[in-house]
Amino acid sequence: MGLPRIIAIDGPAASGKSTLARRLAKALDYLYFDTGVLYRAVTWAALQQGLALDDEAAIAALAASLPIEVRPPSQEDGRSNDVWVAGRDVTWAIRSPQVDAWVSVVAAHPGVRRALLETQRRIGRQGRVVMVGRDIGTVVLPDADLKIYLDASLEERARRRYAELQQRGASVTYDEVLARTRARDQMDASRATAPLRPAPDAVVIVTDGLTADEVFARVWDVIQRHNHHHAPESGPAPQEAERA
Ligand code: DC
Repeated sequence: MGLPRIIAIDGPAASGKSTLARRLAKALDYLYFDTGVLYRAVTWAALQQGLALDDEAAIAALAASLPIEVRPPSQEDGRSNDVWVAGRDVTWAIRSPQVDAWVSVVAAHPGVRRALLETQRRIGRQGRVVMVGRDIGTVVLPDADLKIYLDASLEERARRRYAELQQRGASVTYDEVLARTRARDQMDASRATAPLRPAPDAVVIVTDGLTADEVFARVWDVIQRHNHHHAPESGPAPQEAERA
């Protein structure tokens, strides 16, 4: 089969990665794995334990020892997976504004990234996976068969995140969400280890003005072309060869 075994989806916060990845995983019957939950779970646990979030050694040690479990969803409340930490369902707790505010600091620690790397690779290398994050195509799975980088303007992403938070009943203003999204972008893109950037071989899609359906359709088209080009017996179909 010429379908990509591993699909890496990277991009900034609220660019539409998880919506796209969930739909792809469903359509292909692949595992959906959002690596952001690992950084979020570590951040949540560090806050719970009252650790200083800029203490890299302490947070890295926590990341290396924390039992984080990602399981199929146990409830129909909008979650795509359960996330459990040390016997507690933290699926929604790791989405709190407090975790949002600190997770980029935690994710910038090289020791934390090292501690979480093997888990991500192990899951990725099993194949039939759509893996979402910031550095999947560049660092975690540079050999991924297909890399998608989703981007969108800061304002568009802040609008989407604001709508999402409102739906969940969080009391924040649009301006707060805009400021936080900007701060996270800055942290994610400027950190020394595994900064947010597209892999050289990533397909970049800017999602401003596109609906989720349109983004999905574009990526589906890329997958079909990949399928034709990599089908061992048939080679590219003529019209695909013309377009390439
Ligand atoms: O995608 P998200 O908002 O759940 O990500 C939370 C934070 O984790 C975000 O600030 C960037 C970081 N992250 C990362 O550095 N590398 C990943 N592969 C996934 C997330």
